[in-house]
Amino acid sequence: MSPHSERQIPLLVAGFCATLLATVAAMAAEPTSRPASAPSLVPAVDQQGPTIKDTYRNHCLIGMAGDLPGNYSALEKALVKENFNIVTPENCMKPALVHPGEDTWRFERPDALVKWCADNTVAVHGHTLVWHAQTNAWFFRDGDKAKVTQRLNDHISTLVGRYKGKIRSWDVVNEAISDRGDGQTAQTENLRNSSWLQTMGSEFLTLAFKFAHKADPDAKLYYNDYGIEAGPKHASSMVLLKRLIKDGAPIHGVGIQGHWSTNGVPYAALDKAIADYASLGLKVSVTELDVTIRGSSGGQFGPGPGFGGRRFGGGTPASPEDLTAQADAYARLFAIFIKRKDVVERVTFWGLSDRRTWRFGQHPLILDSNNQRKPAYVAIVDALLHPNPDLAAPR
Ligand code: XIL
Repeated sequence: MSPHSERQIPLLVAGFCATLLATVAAMAAEPTSRPASAPSLVPAVDQQGPTIKDTYRNHCLIGMAGDLPGNYSALEKALVKENFNIVTPENCMKPALVHPGEDTWRFERPDALVKWCADNTVAVHGHTLVWHAQTNAWFFRDGDKAKVTQRLNDHISTLVGRYKGKIRSWDVVNEAISDRGDGQTAQTENLRNSSWLQTMGSEFLTLAFKFAHKADPDAKLYYNDYGIEAGPKHASSMVLLKRLIKDGAPIHGVGIQGHWSTNGVPYAALDKAIADYASLGLKVSVTELDVTIRGSSGGQFGPGPGFGGRRFGGGTPASPEDLTAQADAYARLFAIFIKRKDVVERVTFWGLSDRRTWRFGQHPLILDSNNQRKPAYVAIVDALLHPNPDLAAPR
């Protein structure tokens, strides 16, 4: 790797012209001893320090999402191996992609991913078996409850069975809780009105967990959702999880997706939510972490506000202030994960870099679009090695 000064200059030239002009104007008006050299405006980021994976090796797994090896460059694949010890397939194991028709399976990409991970000593987290999105209509066509249940069983037993012993954990059900409140201050599960609910009733969740456990008794099974760390959706998640446990669903943990933005992370609620799930005997993973620096974020399916940015290098660059605010947000989050170390078993980033992210244009990840460590990367390492009391976990 080259020294960071060489890498920061293009970033500045490309990205911080407005800031630079404003600063030059200010310096002309008020001469100071500050050097006029451009790099002084860009936060210096140590590219050589400890990796997140090594730093957190005694705390939790550190993951990324991507359909490896696919069209990842040699450099990107090396970065995956260097920084992460578990991979989530971003799309290729979703129902619509792996099982587009009742008698049609597409195993090429999932097989390649599982093989690449095994060859490179990286674990795999499977995503996702049951979802309202990226699932084709054939599952429900002309189906009464018995027929749809049989299709669900075939889907889960075939997919989980194929990778038995090779996939450490699965998101069994994804995003089953509605975003709209239940009108009863969240005394209910408030399930989303999906085709699964319509055809099978609320038992679809319990059955999905049972089918998955039967296919691979050693796999850890998760319920995964966004926004469940706070407010009525959190209350509904507690109602749902208690019911699943009572009905004997073999559930091991809860996935909090973690699609947040710098000014919208519910730190105190998150800290409490992790403790709430632990009180049910469940583990927690943060499964799709990204913290956008501009605009709102969320787990909603569909493009975020920054999605219109030109793919690969477009969009408005992040300012130094943006990058610092984002680094602080990540540091606060990891302070919570450290505090809740006995419960949080995995933290996975949703993508590899600001180039490979579904929130492209909003700079949500910890490697930039040139694969360089951002201030957020170092802040996460520092959260464990050199904690800043101003960014501590809620007490
Ligand atoms: C996203 C992928 O990142 C995109 O590439 C795809 O077009 C849509 O799905 N919650 C989830 C993930 O559980 O599967 C979604 O992934 C992001 C929201």
